[in-house]
Amino acid sequence: MIMGEKTRLRGIEREDIPTFVRWLNDPEVRRYLNLNSPISRAEEEGWFEAQLSDESSRVFAIETLEGLAIGNIGLHQIDWKNRNAMLGIVIAEKEYWDRGFGTDAIQALLRFAFEEMNLHRVYLSVFDFNGRASRCYEKCGFRQEGRAREGLFRDGRYHDLIEMAILRREFADEEPPQAKEQ
Ligand SMILES: CC(C)(COP(=O)(O)OP(=O)(O)OC[C@H]1O[C@@H](n2cnc3c(N)ncnc32)[C@H](O)[C@@H]1OP(=O)(O)O)[C@@H](O)C(=O)NCCC(=O)NCCS
Repeated sequence: MIMGEKTRLRGIEREDIPTFVRWLNDPEVRRYLNLNSPISRAEEEGWFEAQLSDESSRVFAIETLEGLAIGNIGLHQIDWKNRNAMLGIVIAEKEYWDRGFGTDAIQALLRFAFEEMNLHRVYLSVFDFNGRASRCYEKCGFRQEGRAREGLFRDGRYHDLIEMAILRREFADEEPPQAKEQ
């Protein structure tokens, strides 16, 4: 388990698949994700099987400390030479939005990425209309590096993608002294 203050990250299990299918077919959640068409159970099973042997990706379920799964978080396109990876997160149980669970899970994953996996840089891309996610990433220490203008076609028009990243030294600077000593 990777422990946060309000969340813990655990491995994903085959039994989670029906929950993931429900989450990823919720239009309010999908709006913010790079998914184009509805997800079937068979597709999700195929994705799960591929994850088991994918060395370039690490995906975890986000649980509350009471053990309720509320979403997923992962590092993708892990580049072991340049020591960077792309972060993806979804909190899909919507009653948990805006309560600090995303920030907590990201901080826990960043600590794992920098202090266990020895990564140097974690990056991501966020849709320009996703103010909640942008704010959450800023709170975690991500900095905006650029904009991919009109890089997304959604709801009949183009939107910008905001590119953000955090370096290991920036994360270390943000950690409270107590946490750094542990
Ligand atoms: C994005 C996500 C991971 C954030 O997790 P969360 O637990 O909801 O976020 P937090 O509560 O930690 O932080 C959200 C912050 O955004 C703020 N916020 C909410 N809506 C906002 C908006 N429209 N514009 C700006 N800020 C907003 C909140 O007030 C909070 O900031 P504060 O603590 O300073 O008040 C989660 O909401 C989620 O998974 N959403 C759906 C899928 C998604 O967007 N994934 C990311 C794709 S890049």
